Amino acid sequence: MRVLVLGAGIIGLSCAEELLRRGHQVSVVDPAPGSGASYAAAGMLSPSSEVWHTERDLLRLGLSSIELWPSYAGRLGVHLHRTGTLLVGFDRGDLQHVERQAALLESFGAAPEMLTGSAARRLEPTLSPRATGAALLSEDHSVDPRSVVEALLSRVGRARDDPEPRECDVTVVATGARLPEPWSSLVRGVRGEILRAHTDDPPTRTIRGWVHGEPLYVVPRADGGVVIGATAEEHDADPVVTLGGVARLLDSARLLVPGLDRATFIEACARDRPGTPDNVPLVGPAPGRDDVILAAGFFRHGVLLAPLAAQLVADHLETGHLDPALDPRRFDVAAARVDADRLVHAPSGREPTYRKDNA
Ligand code: GLY
Repeated sequence: MRVLVLGAGIIGLSCAEELLRRGHQVSVVDPAPGSGASYAAAGMLSPSSEVWHTERDLLRLGLSSIELWPSYAGRLGVHLHRTGTLLVGFDRGDLQHVERQAALLESFGAAPEMLTGSAARRLEPTLSPRATGAALLSEDHSVDPRSVVEALLSRVGRARDDPEPRECDVTVVATGARLPEPWSSLVRGVRGEILRAHTDDPPTRTIRGWVHGEPLYVVPRADGGVVIGATAEEHDADPVVTLGGVARLLDSARLLVPGLDRATFIEACARDRPGTPDNVPLVGPAPGRDDVILAAGFFRHGVLLAPLAAQLVADHLETGHLDPALDPRRFDVAAARVDADRLVHAPSGREPTYRKDNA
């Protein structure tokens, strides 16, 4: 097949790479590859710590995808940080969050090991002595999404930025938080602000949890880098870094991992997570157009789900197989008739601009 992939974030690129591996002709279009949510993402591969009540499908998908990550990372030549995740409560109220999450995971058959504050600190000495307790998620790892994007780009080839029409059999839309019409309402932006720093004394594993009610994660890289995130705000403006967001992240991070006080600040950035109405991704035919496949709406789970998304998209194109939970047609986009052959993307500088003439 001749496949046009719109969007060179981690989802678009992973789909493109899988399709190339399977012998299809693939073109990728994006004026600024890897500069959307993938650029901000911390890269937690943590199916267990980011699911919430009713999100059984997300946990199922996450558990399938994390299985793929060791060989995926090996194939791409990127480092997989395999030291697990500590889900920590700072005060007693925060510990209730941890206990609720542990109970939820137990109900999914994935009970974590519970640790007292001092046991957690023995395991992770960078943790504050004030932490009240933790759950050890020993199978939840992390990866650097920027390295993944770089590795994928080197395999896929340069993504084009010209909006010229081209011949293709099918278009895969992977444009993150901004989908073209008539599907734009299927995805909303949920702003996340995130910080990067460098420290000589990084945690050995991802530490995430709650600090006086604020959710937080600190994700270490192999080179002493740490990623501190993330705020979450429903909004309809361009994602910007706010002083309030930075202050909340720093306050929480320095309480939970006090040594971060001495870390060197590197970067703050903000991007929109692509959330769907039910926060479950969209993978399958776009409402109203069978020759357009959506690979979108990965919300907080894009990095974790990238290898699975690639397989699902390629399998769908080759066999028609579809995971009903992800079928974009579960949403009623009643007016989802694309009357024009030409699709013109949303007017954001960071998102792909394109048109398609072979409908
Ligand atoms: N997956 C982490 C976040 O969305 O902040």
